[in-house]
Amino acid sequence: MKQGRGAMKEQFCLRSIPGDLWQWIADAAHERRENINSLIISLLESARRNDGGSQGLYSDRPVIRPAASFTLPFSFIDLFAGIGGFRLGLQRLGGSCVYSCERDSYCAKTYAAWFGDSPIGDINDVNPADIPDHDILAAGFPCQPFSIAGVSKKRSLGQADGFDCQKQGNLFFKICDIVKVRRPPVLILENVKNLKSHDKRRTWPVIEGTLQELGYAVFHKIIDAADYVPQHRERIFIVCFDREMFGDAPPFQFPDKPLGDKPVFRSILEKNPSEKYTLTDHLWNYLQRYAEKHRAKGNGFGYGIADPCGVSRTLSARYYKDGSEILIAQGTKKNPRRLTIVEAARLMGFRDVVTSREDVPVSDTQAYKQFGNSVVPDVVEAVGRSVLQVMSSHLEKQGSVSLLKRKGDGKPSRKVTARS
Ligand SMILES: C[S@@+](CC[C@H](N)C(=O)[O-])C[C@H]1O[C@@H](n2cnc3c(N)ncnc32)[C@H](O)[C@@H]1O
Repeated sequence: MKQGRGAMKEQFCLRSIPGDLWQWIADAAHERRENINSLIISLLESARRNDGGSQGLYSDRPVIRPAASFTLPFSFIDLFAGIGGFRLGLQRLGGSCVYSCERDSYCAKTYAAWFGDSPIGDINDVNPADIPDHDILAAGFPCQPFSIAGVSKKRSLGQADGFDCQKQGNLFFKICDIVKVRRPPVLILENVKNLKSHDKRRTWPVIEGTLQELGYAVFHKIIDAADYVPQHRERIFIVCFDREMFGDAPPFQFPDKPLGDKPVFRSILEKNPSEKYTLTDHLWNYLQRYAEKHRAKGNGFGYGIADPCGVSRTLSARYYKDGSEILIAQGTKKNPRRLTIVEAARLMGFRDVVTSREDVPVSDTQAYKQFGNSVVPDVVEAVGRSVLQVMSSHLEKQGSVSLLKRKGDGKPSRKVTARS
């Protein structure tokens, strides 16, 4: 093998490398967008620098790239990207993200650390014509104007909620503006379960009707992430197919529940959590008094101690305040504790991204907010897999017809064909 770096002039040759090791080298080169020769040299240089120490061969954290092994190559855009729950789920299926948008700078910091690119900022400043062609538009649009907690907070402050909320409610229509111009074949949207009952059930028909008027067949389902992670987290998933491409009745079905035992809460716990997550006496006494007051009034609001053999309550974006919805018992002699950041990440399904606290480059407060707002990548992956089945069978039926088309000319703008 000829090497291409200036320092060494001789040729070198690698023989008899076991297949799995060779595959690892090839994958690492692909991941780092390097050629194999220069990767091997940099690995050897790095190993020499670390003196074979335990830090691993390269210290810069590789960003998370699409898995290579799914049947259909596809591209997607990630709107209201947060920390990339959609991106992670769709990348696990081999999808390639061509555009992302997120206004919050702390989320953007985490996103950049994990995926290697920074999202565009405020969606209101985006010209849809500048967004590249894509097969799937993914968006978990802001849910506060529709969530139970968000609605009661906004109403108590005398603020508008739902579509009347100028800042956030109307962002759904910003998605529609993009759809009108870019005509993605598929949309996958996610929001809080309450979207269906919001404003005496008047909000949902507007959303569904608008998507239908745009020419899409609309499917929706409330899915509880508890089948994938040990957390009760019900969210509405809205999947839309362009009727012009897939017909009026695309054969889409939401995924069945996964087979086997459900994950249990104790599986996400760290062995030696820092003491800083144990509640102070002050906070613990307050939470107990608060719960008692509400019990006396006959309503069940209060803290929740998670059952190690069951699932926790929903992690909210307000978890950083007191952590009361998900507490972990620590025996009779110690106050309960909150989730650590690694546990919060695992509870949301980010287990392959976050293996230590250092993997989350923001404060605990921001990290809890980010995980509490995020979508569970495992659910996205399952829904995405069902979407890909429809896309693949469409491509098979059409032979080599591309999935993407340009608005107006009806002609393909890029060829996407099914692999075997
Ligand atoms: C419900 S969260 C989506 C989280 C995301 N699905 C994830 O997995 O992390 C909504 C996101 O929209 C972002 N957002 C709100 N208004 C925005 C705007 N005008 N432009 C871009 N992003 C916005 C928020 O900062 C928030 O991160």
